[in-house]
Amino acid sequence: MHTATQASALDLSTLRAQFPILQRSIGSHPLTYLDNAATSQKPAAVIDAISRFFRQDNANIHRGVHYLSVQATDLYDRARAAVAGYIGAREPREIIFVRGTTEAINLVARSFGGSKLEAGDEILLTVMEHHANIVPWQQIAAERGAVIRVVPVRDTGEIDLGDFGRLLSPRTRIASFSHASNALGSINPVAEMTRIAREHGAVVLIDGAQALPHGPIDVAAIDCDFYAFSGHKMFGPDGIGVLYGRAGMLNALPPYQSGGDMIERVSFTGTTFRAVPERFEAGTPHISGAIGLEAAVTWLRQLDWPAVHAHEQALLEQAETLLTEIPGIRLYGSAPDRVSLLSFNLEGVHPHDLGTILDSEGVAIRAGHHCTQPLMQHLGVPGTARASFALYNTPEEVERLASAVRRARHLFA
Ligand code: ALA
Repeated sequence: MHTATQASALDLSTLRAQFPILQRSIGSHPLTYLDNAATSQKPAAVIDAISRFFRQDNANIHRGVHYLSVQATDLYDRARAAVAGYIGAREPREIIFVRGTTEAINLVARSFGGSKLEAGDEILLTVMEHHANIVPWQQIAAERGAVIRVVPVRDTGEIDLGDFGRLLSPRTRIASFSHASNALGSINPVAEMTRIAREHGAVVLIDGAQALPHGPIDVAAIDCDFYAFSGHKMFGPDGIGVLYGRAGMLNALPPYQSGGDMIERVSFTGTTFRAVPERFEAGTPHISGAIGLEAAVTWLRQLDWPAVHAHEQALLEQAETLLTEIPGIRLYGSAPDRVSLLSFNLEGVHPHDLGTILDSEGVAIRAGHHCTQPLMQHLGVPGTARASFALYNTPEEVERLASAVRRARHLFA
């Protein structure tokens, strides 16, 4: 992700015109879509790429000798190479297509955890993790007799690197942490955390689901072993995501799922498995999803990222300023480095009620625990309302959010 100091202005109306759904209304209100951390909207380039594939190129990959199958295989391979290039992977085979971040983490927990963890080994997580980066580890820890250690989070929503280092031990086999928090927005110093964890001999997995929508990343520079993300949060389709992994490490792990396309030879006395990426892509993959994801990264590549970053930060600051002026508002998370999302509560109003009132004005936010119950327990709240901004949101939409929250306050006053 970028930390821009200088930026040119974004042409927001041209940008928004590329997202058909942003032109629609909700009842008599224009759609104010501020639930981008749950899923982003899709530009026409992505919608059209998927439609084109089904209209003229659809076939299964790998198995066929006919023209369309060869072409579909080429398109699928090209998508893998495009994603590899976008995130700085050394080679396309380091990209495993999965359903999303959740499946990517489950793959590592099952395959790495299931083969490498021994009784007493430690798994290091942080308090701010999404359930998808907690529960798979709990399950494998229970099976293998491993122990989960948890890095606390400061009141600002930051990880203390001293705490992180102190919780690593010679028994830590893997440290798994988010690049950006889906509930607080905090951007973690992942390169530094990776360096510290690797110095202790731990393998590193990064949950990048909330980072990719806010700018390109470079897995080689971060130097992590695994990096997981979802297509649908970064303007691509749902049902497709990526596990990046060092090829040598992935090839040394047992398959996660088995079936067609991932084998070398099968007999009733035994089976041998292919190397990556096929090793971890059993069955017919999500071909159109990969093609849609390629269209998303191609679209993302042409953006002026310093300008996007400055715009998103300006939206965040505007939202903080306007919401802070409302009596009874409490904001959560004040780390200096944050993606553009804001968690808040309005005194005396349940976040779900707040979400429903905002929805009646066409303002879409998320309310609840955001699949981060341990973090909510740490904050001492059952949940929050969360407005999450994407590059196509406007200052007018932030004003609509604040006005709707103000009206909600009067309703409950
Ligand atoms: N994990 C997604 C979110 O934070 C669904 O909304």
